[in-house]
Amino acid sequence: MNKTSFFVPDNFLWGGALSANQSEGAYDEDGKAMTIADVFYFDMNKSYKNVAPPTLDKKLIEKAKQDKDLLCYPKRRGIDFYHTYKEDIALLAGMGFKTFRYSICWSRVFPDVNQLEPNSKGLDFYDRIVDECLKYGMEPVITILHTDLPIQIIEEYKGWSDRRVVELYLHFCKTLFVHFKGRVKYWIPFNELNMDLLNPSRKMGILKEDHENYEEAVYQALHYEFVASASAAQLAHTIDPNNKVGVMIAYLATYPSTCKPEDVLSAQQKDKEDNLFFYDVLLRGVYPYYMKKKFEENGWTLDISGKDLDMLRDNTADFAGLSYYNSRIQACEQSQLEKTAGNEASVFKNPYLQTNEWGWIIDPIGLRYTLNHVYELYQKPIFILENGSGFIETPDDSGQLDDPYRIEYYKSHIEQMKFAMEDGVEIWGYIVWSPIDTVAASTGQMKKRYGFIYVDQDDTGAGTHRRIKKSSYQWYKNVILTNGKEL
Ligand code: BG6
Repeated sequence: MNKTSFFVPDNFLWGGALSANQSEGAYDEDGKAMTIADVFYFDMNKSYKNVAPPTLDKKLIEKAKQDKDLLCYPKRRGIDFYHTYKEDIALLAGMGFKTFRYSICWSRVFPDVNQLEPNSKGLDFYDRIVDECLKYGMEPVITILHTDLPIQIIEEYKGWSDRRVVELYLHFCKTLFVHFKGRVKYWIPFNELNMDLLNPSRKMGILKEDHENYEEAVYQALHYEFVASASAAQLAHTIDPNNKVGVMIAYLATYPSTCKPEDVLSAQQKDKEDNLFFYDVLLRGVYPYYMKKKFEENGWTLDISGKDLDMLRDNTADFAGLSYYNSRIQACEQSQLEKTAGNEASVFKNPYLQTNEWGWIIDPIGLRYTLNHVYELYQKPIFILENGSGFIETPDDSGQLDDPYRIEYYKSHIEQMKFAMEDGVEIWGYIVWSPIDTVAASTGQMKKRYGFIYVDQDDTGAGTHRRIKKSSYQWYKNVILTNGKEL
């Protein structure tokens, strides 16, 4: 395929993302309460390759509440960003970042979610992050909930299955919208919302033991999240009409395994249920026909009021946010297909594509396919909020780390993004996951490194914690400097 000579617009937002729960550490400092992320235990003897992300239950929560052993809980220590944010953000600024995407931990701002007054120390921390970004001319993009639901929400409300959680969440949102008015413009109410269906315990706090009809409870909880997301958009727009609110999903590009019509239909159905459903509700503002049918067939009578439907219809999101890690194939008869791991969900392997060390499929062309597909259907601007791959790596004896494989990965994906722009797709920005090595969401490993910046810390948290620029650091800096012309 020919190289693209497409010119990326001058205001294009190049940058990178981190989440509070994978980077901050300081899990009990300055009043912060426990979240789901603080509960997951790390087992040094497990390989963590090709495994599904863990699920949550009450036993795990109880054990974690007693257990103060920092070594076993990687997200309690993160990369100590709570204390190193200044130097870390300076390193990102050194690459010329136009944007930094970060999440705000609900339990840091409201250690007791029922209280109306925020914890000023928690809010102060995010003030410093935002101001640090603005100091370097980086546009902050804020995720409001990124896989760190407060444990209190599970214990008192059984997670998102309780409508009252919508109000608590909106109070949190309102606090942020008012506090950061004029400083933060881009908001993402939920990280990778579609993954909540695939991992309901870890993402929505819906535990198996709490619900008789589990699947129904999961869709009910999801509905409350939809209402919360649309209501957050309404609030954000009312407080500051300049706010831009997105809906973000982890796009699982889905190809039929063959051109057999049954396989094509099966892939289409999977794409609708796992991806498009979420955009349909929050970008179009309506429940799609295929999900209404599913609810009917299962005999579920979900609590979906007329007021909720009005809220969804009248407050659609401003942009389609997505993370892109891997594609997958789908067939009507699956027994012959080989499974492999993927972002938050295992998938069927594509014989034409390679995988990384964790079994995640690498498919740059799938990004162009996805961008065209989403834009064609919704005609709203797209914001690429995460893209990246984990690698195992160590610096050489002189302390240098040469990572041509990372450069190759990003180069091929950015090239496909530029092809999509040339196709006519409107894209606001490209944000990598993650510019600095951080604790992996699915496995808790440090060994799964994504960064342009190496963090000298192993899976047990041991190391000097020093930051080292990998060779990809200069490369991405030049990509930003030339606005994507030189890859
Ligand atoms: C996305 C998440 O699902 O994938 C990130 O939004 C996560 O939080 C990223 O880190 C990569 O997944 P992992 O498990 O390799 O860290």
